[in-house]
Amino acid sequence: MKKVNFFDTTLRDGEQSAGVNLNRKEKLEIAKQLERLGMDIIEAGFPASSKGDFYSVQEIAKTVRNCSVTGLARSVKHDIDAAWEALKDGSEPRLHVFIATSPIHRQYKLKMTEDEVIENAVQAVQYAAKFFPVIQWSAEDACRTELPYLAKIVEKVIEAGANVINIPDTVGYINPIEYGKIFEYLKNNVKNIDKVILSAHCHDDLGMAVANSLSAIEHGAGQIEGTINGIGERAGNAALEEVAVALHIRKDHYKVETNIRLEEIKRTSDLVSKLTGMIVPPNKAIVGNNAFAHESGIHQDGVLKEKTTYEIISPQLVGVQTNSLVLGKHSGRHAFRVKLKELGFSLEDEAINRLFEEFKLLSEKKKELTEDDLVALVLEEQLKG
Ligand code: KIV
Ligand code: ZN
Repeated sequence: MKKVNFFDTTLRDGEQSAGVNLNRKEKLEIAKQLERLGMDIIEAGFPASSKGDFYSVQEIAKTVRNCSVTGLARSVKHDIDAAWEALKDGSEPRLHVFIATSPIHRQYKLKMTEDEVIENAVQAVQYAAKFFPVIQWSAEDACRTELPYLAKIVEKVIEAGANVINIPDTVGYINPIEYGKIFEYLKNNVKNIDKVILSAHCHDDLGMAVANSLSAIEHGAGQIEGTINGIGERAGNAALEEVAVALHIRKDHYKVETNIRLEEIKRTSDLVSKLTGMIVPPNKAIVGNNAFAHESGIHQDGVLKEKTTYEIISPQLVGVQTNSLVLGKHSGRHAFRVKLKELGFSLEDEAINRLFEEFKLLSEKKKELTEDDLVALVLEEQLKG
């Protein structure tokens, strides 16, 4: 089965989330957990951007030995030199160098012609190839770039020595069908494309980052980039835990394997949330508090009879101890009875029925009932009796 590499940029693109500022110790702690999770590549930062980032990338590269550590660089010597200094003691130093390719970026940001961008990209890769064993080259805003031009520049940087070609959807603009077509186009129009790994890097501005990443895999991507909990610039990046679990649950469809240890997902998510201060929404797929909570009577009854009726992922698979049956106004008698039993009450059917009516009345007033509420209901009933 084909292997897909996971490239985590929580510490670089993820740290670009508004309001997030991780110190060196926190970054190292996250990097070690990403290593435990089984990431293939960790983008530890942008060494030329600040002294703090430089030392942090250096420390991570020296400490993390089971995955490749990379750092971002603009297409300029100074950035590439800083990245080399920070990464050279890593187990597999890898450069991530980028330049924007779209007409909007060429005209307004870079103020460069098509040929000047190509020349700059080629020079940067040739320069980096003198010392880096692995070079990833990214076409920033690739998805708003003219396809023939994208193919041309990709061909040139491969010739110059790039090993991984990343096609970022920098502004979260593309949809899964279109994204897949870009990969197909490159496969059919770029010389030596089969000699490199194609990578997907998706942002979530239109809520399609994970779907786009999965589409890229269907169309030949051998590397997926993203962050834990999907944090990142603006609406964030593709949530890697979602991609990893989708690939596992739908192995029948995607037919690829990864190094990700799924059981480490929840722990990693909790750590990133704690250290970044970015709260995970309760309904977030895989790691949200409600991801394995069942509230309605029909669902609770189904899950109590057979979990797979409403659970496609077992909570234990991703390191969550158990699912939960939340008692609220939609809950049914089956879950109510099970909960009472768990709390140590063995009651006659008649008593359970009476209590259930009272529970329903109470649940109209309170969104979620706690175990203490249930105990209070039973004790009141027993006092009356
Ligand atoms: O979104 C993007 O284009 C990036 C590049 C620097 C790869 O993060
Ligand atoms: Zn990005």
